Amino acid sequence: MKLSLVALATALSSAAASPPSYLPFHIPDEMLAQLQAAADPSLTTAKPRTLTEEQLAFQQAMEQQSGDSPVLGFLDDDCGKQTNCGDCTGTKSHFGNNCRWCPQMASNQCYSYGSSSNPCSDEEQQTKPDQCAPLATSRKPVVFLPGLTGSKLDAKTENYKGPSFLCSKNSDWFNIWVSVSQLLPSIYKCTTDEWSLNYNAEDESVSQNPGTSIQYHGGEKSYGASVDAMLGWDMMTHALQAKGYKLGEDLWSAPFDFRMGVKQFMKDDYPKLKALVEQAYDTAGGTPVVFMSISYGGPFGNAFLTDFVDEAWKAKYIDSWISMSGVFNGAPMVVHTLLSGMEMYGVPWLDIDTVRDSLRGWPAMSWLVPSLIEGEEDRVIYYTDDKNYTLSEVANLLEDGGATAAADMKRKQEIIANEDPGVKVHCWFTKDIDTETSFAAHACADDPELITGPGDGTGDLHSLDRCESWADVEVVNYEGLAHSAYMSDETVTKAAVDLVCQ
Ligand SMILES: *[C@@H]1O[C@H](CO)[C@@H](O)[C@H](O)[C@H]1NC(C)=O
Repeated sequence: MKLSLVALATALSSAAASPPSYLPFHIPDEMLAQLQAAADPSLTTAKPRTLTEEQLAFQQAMEQQSGDSPVLGFLDDDCGKQTNCGDCTGTKSHFGNNCRWCPQMASNQCYSYGSSSNPCSDEEQQTKPDQCAPLATSRKPVVFLPGLTGSKLDAKTENYKGPSFLCSKNSDWFNIWVSVSQLLPSIYKCTTDEWSLNYNAEDESVSQNPGTSIQYHGGEKSYGASVDAMLGWDMMTHALQAKGYKLGEDLWSAPFDFRMGVKQFMKDDYPKLKALVEQAYDTAGGTPVVFMSISYGGPFGNAFLTDFVDEAWKAKYIDSWISMSGVFNGAPMVVHTLLSGMEMYGVPWLDIDTVRDSLRGWPAMSWLVPSLIEGEEDRVIYYTDDKNYTLSEVANLLEDGGATAAADMKRKQEIIANEDPGVKVHCWFTKDIDTETSFAAHACADDPELITGPGDGTGDLHSLDRCESWADVEVVNYEGLAHSAYMSDETVTKAAVDLVCQ
């Protein structure tokens, strides 16, 4: 039987199946390498929640690297505060020298004279304002909408009884996503318990486990005029700042608790986003705003535009939307994640079932389960011995596979974020990477064979190409660029910058 399933999977694949390698999560590469390096069997015995000095030092180094404050080399002076060439070369270091601008896309660091971290040679550095390319003279205000796992999350505990004695009973806010120390052996079970959500089918609300709280990093002070709670937007931020963009003037972010779905967004996040867009518009002297989104930021932005604000509001406040890898009908991979669970990055100690169970109550996950779109042909997403489940039966599939909360949320879902948002959209996605599209297993909770089709490695074409039918859309397909790689691609970044400023 196993054999025939393999044959079925192979026959249905548009290309050879590739092994599951990741969730739609983004862990920075260097952090992943560090995690894998830590795969030392001696570490799999219990470690105290209180971190060793080594772990702390590593955590701090990671935070410094992924944070926004430039590493300034040997001297922390005014140079490091500048974000574009003109301001940089017009500022003096402690020694009275002009600060040095090193014109590179991925970085907008401004260096002191002699700074050892400056990667530019003397010839490449710019030290006088007249060497600088002019700043953009017109800049449309930009609001970043992050994706799943794309906001930093902080957790806090109070009289918390976690699954292990290692979990902090009482703590102040600490970084839980994305943090190497919180994913270490044993400790990760505290993490998955802390980020779990309990679903109440009666009012469709979700709640934290008792004694735990989670918010995006920094809470209100990171919303809007800050990118402190954003993960992965460094290159775009730096490229815009190099053109003269400033946080709180024409550059803004809308972090959100990415575990949530549209029900929570309607209540908590969309009112804030609406106020933020109005503030951005006013601050820029009445200039309409550009949304830039990645992945889950697509559905997040889409439901806001289709179901929260009206035509007149959009016409006044929204210039356009640059959507990268927008999954406007979820991703089949999420079904896999919710049913059998997926391998996580090859980090060996993460128990697949524990991680899977912690994700089953997230409204985000059920919202990202693909839906049958009205007027389209139903298709099988999951082949099993007893039953083949089509898209219209996907809630039953979740139920039969034990993901009962997700099944109930899916059944009650009203908004599929695939309708025309009624604004100008630049819809950028990849469709030439082998992507999980459906599955074959004996039973729906078994580890399935993968059937693949076109997509970007995470989202499939059925989801990514929804935007093609919208009225005012310009589609660009980047070749071979994986789902999250848009965030660190120079061509994409340049194209986005060119659209928003001149
Ligand atoms: C599921 O679909 C496959 C391929 O079309 C078919 O061979 C199989 O008999 C179906 N299984 C069930 C239980 O209907």
